[in-house]
Formats: sequence, structure tokens, C-alpha cells
Amino acid sequence: MPPCVFFTPAIDYTVTRNTARARRPPQIAAGRSPDMKFFVDTAEVADIRSLAEAGLVDGVTTNPSLIAKSGRDFKEVIAEICAITPGPVSAEVTATDAAGMIAEGKVLRAIAPNVAVKVPLTEAGLVACRRLSNEGAMVNVTLCFSSAQALLAAKAGATFISPFVGRLDDIATDGMRLIADIVQIYRNYPALTTEVLVASVRHPIHLVEAAKMGAHVATLPPSVIRMLLKHPLTDRGLEAFLADWQKTGQSIL
Ligand code: E4P
Repeated sequence: MPPCVFFTPAIDYTVTRNTARARRPPQIAAGRSPDMKFFVDTAEVADIRSLAEAGLVDGVTTNPSLIAKSGRDFKEVIAEICAITPGPVSAEVTATDAAGMIAEGKVLRAIAPNVAVKVPLTEAGLVACRRLSNEGAMVNVTLCFSSAQALLAAKAGATFISPFVGRLDDIATDGMRLIADIVQIYRNYPALTTEVLVASVRHPIHLVEAAKMGAHVATLPPSVIRMLLKHPLTDRGLEAFLADWQKTGQSIL
């Protein structure tokens, strides 16, 4: 009769390690990325330029709604954004069939080498993802709302998976739970190199939670980046320092 692994006195390090990992909360199991990247979720060039001056732009994401809001020509604004940041700039296809998405992806990639082609999480989108990624393109798979979808995108060769946390919160579902699940699943399989790009971020807590979980990237509207900056004690403290400085009658310059 073979020995029963559950009662063997010898330590099975594989089992011990896996069990320990399973018991750890997802944010620890997720492991660490060298940096958390900030993408800016906008097509407003002035905002991107000013945030880039503060070193806060590692990339940019756009979508057809953001392009419509900017009122700008799609290809022209993508070219302008790509010239501001060397990081990935997501430009979304609008075809719904794979051949159309691949053809549009080629046009978008020709705008600049740092264009990441954004495709929707549909079967056609994954076919396009696989083909474009085989051709060396960066691909951002968007409109992800489940960890199963995220696993499929990774297998299709996505560079980034974009789970939409705010839109899940909007339907009374915990968006950040999805991020924890995806990070944990990807961490289990080192061959899956897709980066978790937290999208539809609405407030600073989304970002802080994403960072604690070890998500690789968060894409933030400029308004949320500015929310991150603000703290009433910073404002009050600065006011008091400046008032006291006035009393000294001195000037630095
Ligand atoms: C980014 O890639 C997404 O298109 C974006 O974050 C969606 O955000 P929203 O849900 O606020 O529209």
C-alpha cells in the first residue's frame, strides 16, 4: 500500500510552501513588481504634459469615449501623446471582428512605437490579441470584469489586462476583490507575464488598495491623481509655515 502523504513524518516542502501561500492574504501572495506604474486615463494633452513634468506619467490610456470628450482627431491626438511620454499609450480599436481589429491595430501601431493596441475582451478581441502580440505589438485587453476573463487574456498574450474596478463597484460588486484574484492567479503561474492594469479608478482608496495588492499599473484620471495629492493637514501646515515666515520679514531670493 503506498504511504499516505498526509501522515508522512517527513516535511514535504512543496506542500508546505503551497499551503503557506494559500493561507496568506492575496496582497502578500501577489509578490512584488519593481515599481507601481501610473498611467493617466485621459486624452487631454495639457493634463498629460503637466503631470509628466512631475514625473507622474509612466503611460497613458485612452478609449473611444475619452477621444470623443477631447473633441480631437484620434490619430493626431495619439501621436501628440506618444511624443510626450515614451511609455505605453493605449489606443483602442473600434472594429468588432478579429480581422478588422488586426488591421486597425496595424494602423495604430504605425503612429508611434509606444502605441499599445487596446482590444475588447471578446473572442474576436482575443484572436486579435494573439496575432498582434505574436507580431510584437503591446496589447491592452480592456473591459475585463472577471478573473476567468483575465486568465484568458493572459493566455492570448496580452501585455496588459484592464479590469474595471469602478464599474464593478457601480453594480454593487467589489471591484478590488477582482484585482486581488487576478494578481493571485497570475502569481501562481510565472509564465503568465501579463501586467494587471487597474482601470476605472474613481478615488484614492482604489489606488492604495491596488498598490497593497501588488498590481503592476493603475490608470488614473487626472482628477484622481490630484485627489491623491490633497490632504487638509498639508494645506493647514503650509498656511501656518508661510504666516510665520512672513513675520520674519526675510526672503530667500
Ligand atoms: C481605461 O483603460 C478605461 O477605459 C477607463 O479606466 C474606464 O474608466 P471609466 O469606467 O471611469 O469610464
